[in-house]
Amino acid sequence: MNISLQTGELLHTLSDFAVLAAFSDIPLPSDVAELFVAEDFTAAAGQTLLLYPRGVVAARRLLLVGMGSSSSVTADTFRRAGALAVQQARSVQASALTAGYEGSIAVPFRDSAQAFVEGLELGGYRFLRYRTGLTAAQTFDVTDAVLVVRPKNAAAVQSGISAGQAISRGVNFARDLVNEPGSAVTPARLGEEAQALGARLGLAVTVLDKPALIAQGFGGILAVGQGSANEPRFIVMEYGNPGTGKPTICLVGKGITFDSGGLSIKPADGMEKMKNDMAGSAAVFGLMQTVAELKLPLHVVGLVSSAENMPSSTAYRPGDILTTLSGKTVEVLNTDAEGRIALSDALFYAQRYHPEAIIELSTLTGAMVIALGSQTTGVMGTNEALVEAIRSAGEATSERVWPLPLWPEYFDMIKSEVADIKNIGGRPAGSITAGAFLASFTGDYPFAHLDIAGTAFLDKASKPYEAAGATGVGVRLLTEYLRKLA
Ligand code: BES
Ligand code: MN
Ligand code: ZN
Repeated sequence: MNISLQTGELLHTLSDFAVLAAFSDIPLPSDVAELFVAEDFTAAAGQTLLLYPRGVVAARRLLLVGMGSSSSVTADTFRRAGALAVQQARSVQASALTAGYEGSIAVPFRDSAQAFVEGLELGGYRFLRYRTGLTAAQTFDVTDAVLVVRPKNAAAVQSGISAGQAISRGVNFARDLVNEPGSAVTPARLGEEAQALGARLGLAVTVLDKPALIAQGFGGILAVGQGSANEPRFIVMEYGNPGTGKPTICLVGKGITFDSGGLSIKPADGMEKMKNDMAGSAAVFGLMQTVAELKLPLHVVGLVSSAENMPSSTAYRPGDILTTLSGKTVEVLNTDAEGRIALSDALFYAQRYHPEAIIELSTLTGAMVIALGSQTTGVMGTNEALVEAIRSAGEATSERVWPLPLWPEYFDMIKSEVADIKNIGGRPAGSITAGAFLASFTGDYPFAHLDIAGTAFLDKASKPYEAAGATGVGVRLLTEYLRKLA
């Protein structure tokens, strides 16, 4: 979408589709109040009313979007409003909209503009690539939006627009990768996506294929991928340079392009959703793109362990003992606990950058879906300040995270008799023992693990800017974290 800024007043601006954010405790501008309304439209958050002003104001259509009371408005209210606006404009086939508001509220213009733009771009997202025979109405897209603001707020709003666009492009890129079927997004394809991203944004990209993984001893990724004809990859994407006083952050993503469970095979019911088992890596791709577009003054290294977990005569077995890249041996008790095994190589690899923080995202455990549902991502970390910074970024972006402990007792639960560590710790604390497994490969570096098993993929949207399917979770969250750090 082309999104730009215009100075002036919304109601005096010619427009096919004007969007006015209305607050329940701030009177509507008098021209609008004269039109009618008031009675049924209370400007409650999420309420909308589409008007045809017939010359009373300059716009042909005027959409009132309720924001609730000015004191309770947050950035997320604007994000929801942007999504409602684009969806309503689309439903009447208006290809361009203008938007603005009057009155003073506590959210800074920069943040409200960013969130509104995110709402426009995220709320307009659809995955239609594989649908044929759609009508023009079904594929109709809003192509242009103009934010109408007072001159004194123009600079702040322009900066919000740029940030909102860079962030939502990253989210929608991640959503596309996850929504694609496992047959299309293989480990090799993720490697190609990384190369393309690198070429487009000037990132240094390295993709290790199977022979390279064998030569360099990536025993975890290789074991998980050995049952599939789609060979595994390890992907390194580097933005910025080390050694210039800029903090180095490693972002690590789980890129299991399909998780059948392997020989410890999953039940058929719901297995189709396991194409989303590369959502952590998709978030890393989206983040690398967003960070590069925002030109953040940081050194960010994206690391992806990618494999397909399949049962076959070449698959790894329960009872196998693997040597990971770190040299640590792993007893495999369940081939469906594959993410932690593949990730162990990436987490160990991350240490070579001596990073300020290693932040890892993975659809790691079903237990996390049970614990926190689809609303909240679980975070586990070895550094309290890091966990708190991520939690607070979650509040700011409404991609909420909640901490679980990684106390030493949990590490005891994954000790093995025959190897250094075993890949499952039993049903109790299933998400935490998985986190403890990961933390066993990050040395003394500050580490945070985000378990996005519940938040990466939705059966049903519950907010206007969501859609069924991939969410792109992690991109908004960690962009916020990285911008605060920069
Ligand atoms: N990818 C799954 C976890 C998952 C479950 C993601 C539901 C999204 C939705 C992971 O590889 C897995 O299979 N975990 C097992 C671990 C168990 C065998 C210890 C699980 O959670 O059941
Ligand atoms: Mn699994
Ligand atoms: Zn998995």
